[in-house]
Amino acid sequence: MSPAIFDIGYLVSASLFIFGLKRLGHPRTAPQGNQLGAAGMLVAVITTVLLIALGGEGLHGIPWLMTGGVVIGSGIGLLIATRVQMTQMPEMVALLNGLGGAASALVALAEVTGRVQENHMPTSAVELSTVWIAIGLSALVGWSTLTGSLVAMAKLAGGISIFGRWIDTPSWGPPWLNQAKAGLTGAVLFLILLTMIFPTNMFLVWMIVILSCVLGVILVLPIGGADMPVVVSLLNSMSGLAAAFTGFILNNSVLIVAGSLVGASGLILTIIMCKAMNRDLYDVLFKSFGGGGGKQKLTRTKVGSDPDEVAMILEGAQNVIVVPGYGMAVSQCQHAVREFAEILREKYGTEVSYAIHPVAGRMPGHMNVLLAEASVPYEQQIEMDEINSQFATCDAVLVIGANDTTNPVARSGEGPLAGMPILDVEAAPAIIIVKRSLSVGYAGVDNDLFYLDKTMMLFGDGKDQMSALNQALKEA
Ligand code: TAP
Repeated sequence: MSPAIFDIGYLVSASLFIFGLKRLGHPRTAPQGNQLGAAGMLVAVITTVLLIALGGEGLHGIPWLMTGGVVIGSGIGLLIATRVQMTQMPEMVALLNGLGGAASALVALAEVTGRVQENHMPTSAVELSTVWIAIGLSALVGWSTLTGSLVAMAKLAGGISIFGRWIDTPSWGPPWLNQAKAGLTGAVLFLILLTMIFPTNMFLVWMIVILSCVLGVILVLPIGGADMPVVVSLLNSMSGLAAAFTGFILNNSVLIVAGSLVGASGLILTIIMCKAMNRDLYDVLFKSFGGGGGKQKLTRTKVGSDPDEVAMILEGAQNVIVVPGYGMAVSQCQHAVREFAEILREKYGTEVSYAIHPVAGRMPGHMNVLLAEASVPYEQQIEMDEINSQFATCDAVLVIGANDTTNPVARSGEGPLAGMPILDVEAAPAIIIVKRSLSVGYAGVDNDLFYLDKTMMLFGDGKDQMSALNQALKEA
């Protein structure tokens, strides 16, 4: 078979990745973007297995073993994806980033081991330096992405269960840790330089692997919970970089393209999220800005309202804004929220829109995904910058399971939420908040919004309270 056929296969695959990425840019086209990306991966895998089966140059492998791996891996992926709860999705994304980094790093390790065992060293000094730098960087980025992602996953879950025993994820970050991170990075880069002088020395390679693993852990461990989404996105970008480095090692164009796409898009997402949370990436990574100082103690109380009382407030409202947050995901009440909007529209002709904070929930686009699942039209899902000016002129706001993203303390410049742009719920004339208690949100900070005179708290599980409120509205 002509080698050009394989190049065409890789070209098709890379094009599918690029078109898929483009379509991921809007919630409406995102599912199709996802399918295009998956199709691109399938084409890349088939092309590579065929290339190896036909003895393609530069690639090694046992085709039936690879096919078996693909089948088993796909089965496991399918099982996890269908079983994972929507609320556990960020942990799963963190795990997948880590596995991506590990896969690239393992390929790099296999390549260096194979070359050393077969004494198959590059002949020119330039080629040797290029290959060994790529192998070293792939190991550095790949292994640190794996361990960093595992720590991020544990942090997102609040802890890990080891043999049935739950252990809370610590937030540990003494001031000298930043020097340790710099020192470790410098040491790994130095070891990579040494591998170019002693290319057959496997001790150096294993030292790179071990130090990179430690680096990943100490990079993520001190970072506070509220900044974890930024970290996960950055780790995603790093897993792409590791793949691109591995592409250079194998001289595989599709791996370089796919890795660069993941690296670049992950970095763009990281920057967008930093902006949304008003964080500087340097502060996130090196100043443990996002807290980790534990939950604030609550000292105030507030008497709860009941659904009938809230239904009376909403009677005849012309303009209502719904602010969804993580609690909506937990209680899976998005269908009841859509029904709430339908009842208001049908009964009073109310205009209902949904205010979407960029980091509401636990992953980018979390609220869009849930609302789309409940068939809420995309036109009604309005981004924070656009909707913020409308809070003052609406009749009422229904906050369903959101907390940090509405907390006015973010404007005070103090604490874990300092400087994060928020939805301007405080400006609304009437505020209804559905949550189980007065307890704090993800960042662990008390919310003044709950205690305002114009705020009505509807205490209870989101789904139960939304069902009760819908019933009360129907009967009103
Ligand atoms: P949060 O501040 O996390 O607050 C969610 C609220 O939902 C909690 O205060 C909780 O109060 C309530 N809740 C939980 N279960 C509920 C249930 N079954 N029924 C009703 N309410 C329930 O949510 P948010 O406003 O969406 O803010 C997101 C936070 O997560 C931000 O700090 C953000 O930085 C962080 N974060 C975001 C991401 C991304 S990318 N979106 C990823 C990781 C972290 P009760 O316990 O009183 O019910």
